[in-house]
Amino acid sequence: MANLFRFGVSLEKKLLDEFDVLIKKKNYSNRSEAFRDLIRQELVKEEWQGKGEVVGAITLVYDHRKRELINTLTNIQHDFQGTIISSQHIHQDHDNCLEIIIARGAVKDVVNLADTLKSVKGVKHGAMNMSSTGKGIK
Ligand code: NI
Repeated sequence: MANLFRFGVSLEKKLLDEFDVLIKKKNYSNRSEAFRDLIRQELVKEEWQGKGEVVGAITLVYDHRKRELINTLTNIQHDFQGTIISSQHIHQDHDNCLEIIIARGAVKDVVNLADTLKSVKGVKHGAMNMSSTGKGIK
């Protein structure tokens, strides 16, 4: 790793013990990697507070037999075609579908798309994972 800097961090013993338990549970090989991930997570959160381009993965679970549900979801996606860069539909079982929609654009557009899709009547679960174009993160 080029330009690697070391710095000391002072923590209460109890907090460090809790951190060690947490990072072991999450399979980090060492504190440094866990700490780097925490920093990156905060940088992504910061991106979502700004005016730049962000990336989000929206997941929806719904029963495709509900009347008009598919049409409504499709109409919304056509209205946001400039924001959606990819989508995938998985038939989970006889009734339930999982749709994963990848959106990229201004925060307000990505959030508006996610909120609009999640709030459609009949959607059993909707969530958005806030991610990044990666340009602002090393
Ligand atoms: Ni399906």
